[in-house]
Amino acid sequence: MLKEITISRLVKSEDLNHHGTLFAGRMAEWLVEASFIAAARLAGRPEDVVCVQIHGMTFGKPAARGDLIEIRTNVAYLGGKSITVHAAVHANEDTAPAVSGMATFVTVDRGGKPYAHGLTLPDEYVERHRAIHEQARRIRSRA
Ligand SMILES: CC(C)(COP(=O)(O)OP(=O)(O)OC[C@H]1O[C@@H](n2cnc3c(N)ncnc32)[C@H](O)[C@@H]1OP(=O)(O)O)[C@@H](O)C(=O)NCCC(=O)NCCS
Repeated sequence: MLKEITISRLVKSEDLNHHGTLFAGRMAEWLVEASFIAAARLAGRPEDVVCVQIHGMTFGKPAARGDLIEIRTNVAYLGGKSITVHAAVHANEDTAPAVSGMATFVTVDRGGKPYAHGLTLPDEYVERHRAIHEQARRIRSRA
Protein backbone atom coordinates (compact mmCIF):
# COMPACT_ATOMS: atom_id res chain seq x y z
CA MET A 1 0.00 0.00 0.00
CA LEU A 2 1.64 3.23 -1.17
CA LYS A 3 0.39 6.01 1.04
CA GLU A 4 1.84 8.24 3.71
CA ILE A 5 1.70 6.55 7.08
CA THR A 6 1.59 8.72 10.19
CA ILE A 7 2.42 7.44 13.66
CA SER A 8 1.71 9.71 16.65
CA ARG A 9 3.60 9.77 19.94
CA LEU A 10 3.40 11.76 23.18
CA VAL A 11 6.77 12.79 24.67
CA LYS A 12 6.73 11.58 28.28
CA SER A 13 9.17 11.94 31.21
CA GLU A 14 10.81 8.58 30.48
CA ASP A 15 11.63 9.74 26.92
CA LEU A 16 13.84 12.66 28.03
CA ASN A 17 17.61 13.05 28.16
CA HIS A 18 19.64 14.81 30.87
CA HIS A 19 18.85 18.20 29.23
CA GLY A 20 15.14 17.57 29.72
CA THR A 21 14.47 17.26 25.98
CA LEU A 22 13.54 14.21 23.89
CA PHE A 23 16.38 11.64 23.91
CA ALA A 24 17.82 11.02 20.42
CA GLY A 25 17.88 7.25 20.99
CA ARG A 26 14.15 7.24 21.70
CA MET A 27 13.45 9.35 18.63
CA ALA A 28 15.59 7.00 16.52
CA GLU A 29 13.61 4.01 17.84
CA TRP A 30 10.30 5.66 16.95
CA LEU A 31 11.55 6.73 13.53
CA VAL A 32 12.82 3.24 12.63
CA GLU A 33 9.63 1.59 13.92
CA ALA A 34 7.45 3.95 11.87
CA SER A 35 9.64 3.39 8.80
CA PHE A 36 9.47 -0.38 9.32
CA ILE A 37 5.67 -0.18 9.34
CA ALA A 38 5.71 1.68 6.00
CA ALA A 39 8.06 -0.90 4.44
CA ALA A 40 6.18 -3.87 5.91
CA ARG A 41 2.80 -2.55 4.75
CA LEU A 42 4.13 -2.21 1.23
CA ALA A 43 5.86 -5.60 1.24
CA GLY A 44 2.70 -7.18 2.65
CA ARG A 45 4.76 -9.65 4.74
CA PRO A 46 6.10 -7.91 7.88
CA GLU A 47 7.88 -11.12 8.94
CA ASP A 48 10.06 -10.88 5.80
CA VAL A 49 11.30 -7.32 6.38
CA VAL A 50 14.60 -6.49 8.13
CA CYS A 51 16.41 -3.19 8.53
CA VAL A 52 19.82 -3.03 6.90
CA GLN A 53 20.71 0.65 7.33
CA ILE A 54 19.61 3.84 9.04
CA HIS A 55 20.78 6.80 6.98
CA GLY A 56 21.83 10.21 8.31
CA MET A 57 19.25 11.19 10.87
CA THR A 58 19.17 14.93 11.53
CA PHE A 59 17.84 16.41 14.76
CA GLY A 60 17.02 19.99 13.79
CA LYS A 61 14.98 21.10 16.80
CA PRO A 62 14.53 19.72 20.32
CA ALA A 63 11.18 18.32 21.49
CA ALA A 64 9.96 18.71 25.05
CA ARG A 65 7.85 16.74 27.52
CA GLY A 66 4.19 16.97 26.55
CA ASP A 67 4.93 17.55 22.86
CA LEU A 68 2.80 15.62 20.39
CA ILE A 69 5.03 14.08 17.77
CA GLU A 70 3.91 12.97 14.32
CA ILE A 71 6.19 10.71 12.32
CA ARG A 72 5.20 10.85 8.65
CA THR A 73 6.70 8.13 6.50
CA ASN A 74 6.77 7.68 2.74
CA VAL A 75 8.46 5.03 0.64
CA ALA A 76 11.24 6.94 -1.13
CA TYR A 77 12.98 4.32 -3.25
CA LEU A 78 12.71 0.69 -4.25
CA GLY A 79 15.65 -1.47 -5.24
CA GLY A 80 15.32 -5.09 -6.31
CA LYS A 81 15.35 -6.49 -2.76
CA SER A 82 15.29 -3.25 -0.78
CA ILE A 83 12.80 -0.62 0.34
CA THR A 84 14.02 2.81 1.47
CA VAL A 85 11.62 4.86 3.58
CA HIS A 86 11.81 8.59 4.35
CA ALA A 87 10.56 9.79 7.73
CA ALA A 88 9.81 13.38 8.75
CA VAL A 89 9.00 14.13 12.37
CA HIS A 90 6.77 17.08 13.17
CA ALA A 91 6.18 18.38 16.71
CA ASN A 92 2.85 19.94 17.63
CA GLU A 93 1.80 20.22 13.97
CA ASP A 94 4.77 22.43 13.04
CA THR A 95 5.08 22.57 9.28
CA ALA A 96 8.89 22.25 9.35
CA PRO A 97 10.10 18.83 10.49
CA ALA A 98 12.09 18.72 13.74
CA VAL A 99 13.80 15.49 12.69
CA SER A 100 14.21 13.66 9.42
CA GLY A 101 15.94 10.55 8.21
CA MET A 102 15.73 7.45 6.07
CA ALA A 103 15.97 3.74 6.68
CA THR A 104 16.51 0.89 4.23
CA PHE A 105 14.88 -2.50 4.64
CA VAL A 106 15.45 -5.77 2.80
CA THR A 107 13.00 -8.58 2.12
CA VAL A 108 14.35 -11.91 3.38
CA ASP A 109 13.03 -15.47 3.41
CA ARG A 110 12.72 -17.65 6.51
CA GLY A 111 16.42 -18.44 6.31
CA GLY A 112 17.30 -14.73 6.26
CA LYS A 113 18.28 -14.86 2.58
CA PRO A 114 17.37 -11.71 0.61
CA TYR A 115 14.84 -12.13 -2.18
CA ALA A 116 13.49 -9.85 -4.92
CA HIS A 117 10.24 -8.27 -3.72
CA GLY A 118 8.99 -7.55 -7.24
CA LEU A 119 7.61 -4.15 -6.26
CA THR A 120 7.83 -0.97 -8.34
CA LEU A 121 6.91 2.67 -7.77
CA PRO A 122 4.45 4.13 -10.28
CA ASP A 123 5.90 7.06 -12.29
CA GLU A 124 3.22 9.37 -10.95
CA TYR A 125 4.18 8.48 -7.35
CA VAL A 126 7.89 9.10 -8.07
CA GLU A 127 7.00 12.46 -9.63
CA ARG A 128 4.99 13.46 -6.55
CA HIS A 129 7.82 12.41 -4.21
CA ARG A 130 10.67 13.58 -6.46
CA ALA A 131 12.71 15.25 -3.66
CA ILE A 132 12.86 12.23 -1.30
CA HIS A 133 13.27 9.85 -4.26
CA GLU A 134 16.37 11.72 -5.42
CA GLN A 135 17.66 12.00 -1.86
CA ALA A 136 17.27 8.23 -1.40
CA ARG A 137 18.96 7.51 -4.73
CA ARG A 138 21.96 9.62 -3.70
CA ILE A 139 22.16 7.96 -0.28
CA ARG A 140 21.79 4.48 -1.79
CA SER A 141 24.54 5.07 -4.32
CA ARG A 142 26.90 5.76 -1.39
CA ALA A 143 25.75 2.72 0.67
C1 LIG B 1 19.93 -7.44 5.31
C2 LIG B 1 20.84 -8.58 4.88
C3 LIG B 1 20.02 -9.85 4.69
C4 LIG B 1 21.46 -8.16 3.53
O1 LIG B 1 22.37 -9.18 3.16
P1 LIG B 1 23.31 -8.99 1.87
O2 LIG B 1 24.10 -10.21 1.72
O3 LIG B 1 24.00 -7.67 1.93
O4 LIG B 1 22.21 -8.94 0.72
P2 LIG B 1 22.36 -8.54 -0.79
O5 LIG B 1 23.78 -8.28 -1.17
O6 LIG B 1 21.56 -9.56 -1.58
O7 LIG B 1 21.60 -7.14 -0.87
C5 LIG B 1 20.21 -7.08 -0.66
C6 LIG B 1 19.80 -5.63 -0.72
O8 LIG B 1 20.29 -4.97 0.45
C7 LIG B 1 20.98 -3.79 0.06
N1 LIG B 1 22.03 -3.56 1.04
C8 LIG B 1 22.95 -4.43 1.49
N2 LIG B 1 23.73 -3.82 2.41
C9 LIG B 1 23.28 -2.55 2.51
C10 LIG B 1 23.65 -1.44 3.29
N3 LIG B 1 24.68 -1.48 4.14
N4 LIG B 1 22.95 -0.30 3.16
C11 LIG B 1 21.92 -0.21 2.31
N5 LIG B 1 21.49 -1.24 1.54
C12 LIG B 1 22.18 -2.38 1.64
C13 LIG B 1 21.57 -4.12 -1.31
O9 LIG B 1 21.86 -2.95 -2.02
C14 LIG B 1 20.40 -4.88 -1.91
O10 LIG B 1 19.41 -3.99 -2.32
P3 LIG B 1 18.91 -3.92 -3.86
O11 LIG B 1 18.34 -5.26 -4.18
O12 LIG B 1 17.90 -2.85 -3.85
O13 LIG B 1 20.14 -3.59 -4.66
C15 LIG B 1 21.98 -8.84 5.91
O14 LIG B 1 22.88 -7.76 5.92
C16 LIG B 1 21.42 -9.04 7.30
O15 LIG B 1 20.89 -10.10 7.63
N6 LIG B 1 21.55 -8.02 8.16
C17 LIG B 1 20.96 -8.05 9.49
C18 LIG B 1 19.52 -7.50 9.44
C19 LIG B 1 18.96 -7.34 10.83
O16 LIG B 1 19.11 -8.19 11.67
N7 LIG B 1 18.32 -6.20 11.03
C20 LIG B 1 17.81 -5.83 12.32
C21 LIG B 1 18.70 -4.77 12.86
S1 LIG B 1 19.34 -5.11 14.44
